[in-house]
Parts: sequence; structure tokens; C-alpha cells
Amino acid sequence: MTVISKTLEQTAEFWKGFYANRSLRHTPSPFAQWCLENHLPENSKILELGCGNGRDSFAFLHQNLPVIALDACPVAIADNLEHQKSLNLQLQGHFSTLDFADLDTLETKNINTLYSRFVLHAIPEILEDKILDYATVQLPKEGRMLHEFRTIRDPLMQQGEALSKTERLTTHYRRFLNPDVFREKLAARGWKELFFVESDTLAVFGNENPVVARIVAEKK
Ligand SMILES: C[S@@+](CC[C@H](N)C(=O)[O-])C[C@H]1O[C@@H](n2cnc3c(N)ncnc32)[C@H](O)[C@@H]1O
Repeated sequence: MTVISKTLEQTAEFWKGFYANRSLRHTPSPFAQWCLENHLPENSKILELGCGNGRDSFAFLHQNLPVIALDACPVAIADNLEHQKSLNLQLQGHFSTLDFADLDTLETKNINTLYSRFVLHAIPEILEDKILDYATVQLPKEGRMLHEFRTIRDPLMQQGEALSKTERLTTHYRRFLNPDVFREKLAARGWKELFFVESDTLAVFGNENPVVARIVAEKK
């Protein structure tokens, strides 16, 4: 087993513990709120990758936007399903456990929007490429991708064990993205950039003020 695959296995255990121990309902992320205000038209049908505890999925559902929400962590998905049931509303949410390594097996005929928050930096680049290829094949013309992720300018990159130039291990695996490289990947796959920013102050949480990028792109 390679160091990275062992690290990813440990990280999967980290997420199980994280979602089992934390109080699971949180307010929507600032990114989700910003997307709702600016970049998610009424006809959006969302595929959310790496939904975690559903904080953003439920925010979309409460705005009557249908959501297919996926995460590799069965503990988080089970809780989201239970929460959806307990709300007893007509929410169009479909929560499922899926590892992005198996994304090819996912059949989604009706989505036009792919959303991820704090996920691209939680996975190796090979899975990022898989996601971009999947979106490029599956989303219709004018479909959208919306992503928020930590960049190589995030101070957290100075912490933990260095697994490579951009990958770090603390309590779990992270890979800090160079947003210019990511933007080139989108352009090369035929995506038009609608919005880009890289900054701190966008995802403040307690004492943490990470440097993140936000990207909204449209399929040409
Ligand atoms: C930092 S959390 C972000 C969760 C949520 N989007 C949020 O903003 O609170 C990263 C999420 O990615 C999920 N994840 C990591 N690797 C994955 C993989 N290979 N396939 C599917 N989900 C994965 C984890 O289980 C975790 O829920």
C-alpha cells in the first residue's frame, strides 16, 4: 500500500469520527449563501460532491433546489437521510454514499450544476481530474460548476507532514491547490470562467481565516 493510499484510509476514518462526534447540523457556509445570492438560478439542479453533514445541501433544498448530495462517509450520509426524514418536508434531496473514485458509476440525467465546498483540497489530484472530466461529459451546455477550496497561499499549508510539494497530513489529508493551474484545467476542458477570487476573509471559522479560491464556471 502506498503512503498516500494509507493516508487516505486514515483520513476516511477521521471523517467518520468527525461526523459521529460533532453536532451535525450547522448553518450554511458563506460560500453556499453567496452562491444562492449570486450564481444559482431557480432552474438549478445540483450535484453536490462531498456534502459532509449537509449544511449546504439543506440550504439549497430549503430554497427548493433539487440536490443529489454525495460523500464517501457513510456516517454523514446516514445522518443526512435521517435529518431529511425528520424534516417531513417535500425536499427533493437524494443523499448517497459514493467515493469519487467510483464517479463513473453515477448516472445523473437531470443535473445542470456541480457544487463542491472544501472538497477539492480534501482529495488527491487524480480525483479532482476525474470530477472535472465527469462534469465536462455530464453537464449540459451552460451548466455550471461552483467550487471553493484552500489554495497554496493558505497558511495551513505550513503545518503538518509534507507528503509532496502541495500535500500535507495533519489530523487528515489536505492538498493545497494552485488556482491558476485549476483555472487552466477548466479552460482546457471548454469551461468559461464567470467568476474567480482568491482571498482570505471568505471562509472565516473561529480563529481560522484560510486563503481560499472561489470559482464559478459555465460549460461552453
Ligand atoms: C472538508 S469536508 C467538507 C464538507 C462540506 N462540503 C462542508 O463544507 O462542510 C470534505 C468532505 O469530503 C469527503 N470526501 C473526502 N474524500 C472523498 C472521496 N474520495 N469521495 C467522496 N467524498 C470524499 C469527506 O468525507 C468530507 O465530508
